[in-house]
Amino acid sequence: MMIGSDKLFLLQNLKIVRNTDERSKIILKAFAINMMVLMYYYGFTEQTKQFRELSRNTDLIPPYINIRSDLFIAPKYGILACGIRKSMSQLLINIMCLLHNETEFQRQNRSLNDTWMSDRVCSHKDPHFHIPQKSVDSYQNLTRFAFIRDPFDRFISFYLHICKNDKGCWDCGDNMRCVVEKVYISLKNYERNPDEATSSLVDRHAAPISW
Ligand SMILES: *[C@@H]1O[C@H](CO)[C@@H](O)[C@H](O)[C@H]1NC(C)=O
Ligand SMILES: *[C@@H]1O[C@H](CO)[C@@H](O)[C@H](O)[C@H]1NC(C)=O
Ligand SMILES: *[C@@H]1O[C@H](CO)[C@@H](O)[C@H](O)[C@H]1NC(C)=O
Ligand SMILES: *[C@@H]1O[C@H](CO)[C@@H](O)[C@H](O)[C@H]1NC(C)=O
Repeated sequence: MMIGSDKLFLLQNLKIVRNTDERSKIILKAFAINMMVLMYYYGFTEQTKQFRELSRNTDLIPPYINIRSDLFIAPKYGILACGIRKSMSQLLINIMCLLHNETEFQRQNRSLNDTWMSDRVCSHKDPHFHIPQKSVDSYQNLTRFAFIRDPFDRFISFYLHICKNDKGCWDCGDNMRCVVEKVYISLKNYERNPDEATSSLVDRHAAPISW
């Protein structure tokens, strides 16, 4: 749409979507495609693969280790979301909850403000919503997406929330150097023995996004 000298021009190919159902589908699809481009860009470039090789022979923490993550599905829209801690995962679960069953979402007065562990609807224990990681391959033809956050922002967010506010980072208090050293040791241990059941809360918040 362009506005020029009192006249309003509508571009010929402009598509105005009024139907909310269709609109949210289009927005979500556009969004998901952008996210996939982002994931492709950050996740699977040649440099990353080389980096992985390189990090095998150094002390760097390598990408692509499996750690517990949260997968939510909305079959009606054909989408599957992966919630990465400290990357808008709370908003993500609420959005996915709404898309999973709009009627139920409204009936239970749920809002996008609600926090993670609300058991009223879209419980973490509901395997039709929060699907187990091992069954992900049985859901074909779903558009998969994740919110990605700048890794430094994400680390600061983790540090302020888990370490500074919740005092959950060993006995480091708010000593960031201590936190970084302990996180490094913890992730190195996990790398040697990547058993998803044993990851700690700190591991899941501080692990590289590609994990
Ligand atoms: C959504 O929840 C309602 C109950 O509020 C239920 O009757 C309906 O079957 C659910 N829809 C889906 C697609 O699960
Ligand atoms: C939702 O809100 C309405 C109006 O405030 C209330 O009457 C109803 O009991 C609430 N439902 C639930 C499940 O909390
Ligand atoms: C959600 O949070 C905002 C900001 O704190 C608040 O203004 C709003 O009333 C909240 N909405 C609900 C439904 O709780
Ligand atoms: C996925 O979609 C393709 C093409 O639309 C179809 O041939 C295939 O049967 C679908 N697979 C599943 C598991 O639904």
